[in-house]
Amino acid sequence: MVRDATTITLTGAGGQIGYALLFRIAAGEMLGTDRPVRLRLLEIPQGLRAAEGAALELQDGAFPLLQDVEVTDDARVGFDGADIALLVGARPRGPGMERADLLAANAGIFGPQGRAIAEATAPGIRAVVVGNPANTNALLAAAAAAPEIPAERFSALTRLDHNRAVAQIAGVLEVSPAAVDGLIVWGNHSATQFPDVAHARVRMPDGERPVLDALAERFGGVDAAHTWLDETFLPRVARRGAEIIEVRGSSSVASAAHAVIQHVRDEQLGTDGRRTSAAIVSHGEYGIPEGLVCSMPVVSPGVSGSDGGYRAVEGLALDDRGRALLQTSVDELVAERAAVRDLGGR
Ligand code: NAD
Ligand code: LMR
Repeated sequence: MVRDATTITLTGAGGQIGYALLFRIAAGEMLGTDRPVRLRLLEIPQGLRAAEGAALELQDGAFPLLQDVEVTDDARVGFDGADIALLVGARPRGPGMERADLLAANAGIFGPQGRAIAEATAPGIRAVVVGNPANTNALLAAAAAAPEIPAERFSALTRLDHNRAVAQIAGVLEVSPAAVDGLIVWGNHSATQFPDVAHARVRMPDGERPVLDALAERFGGVDAAHTWLDETFLPRVARRGAEIIEVRGSSSVASAAHAVIQHVRDEQLGTDGRRTSAAIVSHGEYGIPEGLVCSMPVVSPGVSGSDGGYRAVEGLALDDRGRALLQTSVDELVAERAAVRDLGGR
């Protein structure tokens, strides 16, 4: 059965991640090959030509699922009837800009976009924020979209961090990434994030076991495994974004686009009970202050109309080290929220 078309709005469509995303969406990789899509490409005036060029190439792809492409710099037009919003466009950090300047510049983007989402999108809208600082941008957009749109419809991308952590574990244990399950990224999409293997399991050639046990075998003891986690794994994953910028000369693009595809696909179609990581609005889970957009373990039953979507997996134990690491990242999110509140954000 061919279903009604889903309208997807992509902001920053003329940018790098936009270019890496659009053709995969049109090919059905995000929502499945039974779901036609309508694309709305929202840019600022300086980015319109690049977005228009991408639209021409989308036409040249002759994608059977692609019903329509519209390019605009008007948020009301861009979000009109959107079922899914991918908020990628953001103000990058420029020379001499402090984090507070970055928060301020992006508050001026994500506040108005949140309002436009409330006024123009379909009732079941789901929005994921990719543009940095992603968690606090999502908090701002959700606050501006209230009360019409429940805050739970907004999330921020930490699936890339999750994938990075899985890849590091798979690499050191010499297994496929598909053999690693149940890893969690907690906190902010920043260097304070906490990639946590405490509840992760791995399928080794000789059987399945906790990742911690497999690491202890690999490094010759539990202490050595913890040393590797603290001194190599955690900083490698948390600073991977900076490493990519240093090596490539600009921030991650294709891996980020791939993570967006997975994040939306899992939220929309369901995770089948499998845990993943996403930054969602806290209701106080794990002591995370209410209202913060914080990465945590999530599942989704899929989205049906206005129901479903990501929800926290509760009840997983955190030891003292884990609590302290989560708290550091939560403190950073609290400080970011305070900084945007000082700017008049909510
Ligand atoms: P880019 O500079 O290539 O593209 C950004 C595009 O956004 C530009 O075309 C720009 O014109 C547009 N834009 C700026 N303000 C806009 C607005 N108000 N409305 C609509 N469009 C707007 O950047 P990129 O490489 O595509 O990265 C985009 C963002 O994603 C950056 O903030 C980057 O830091 C972030 N990022 C996040 C993750 C993550 O895991 N959360 C990973 C990688 C990159
Ligand atoms: C990433 O994690 O690759 C990006 O968020 C880094 C960045 O600062 O754009």
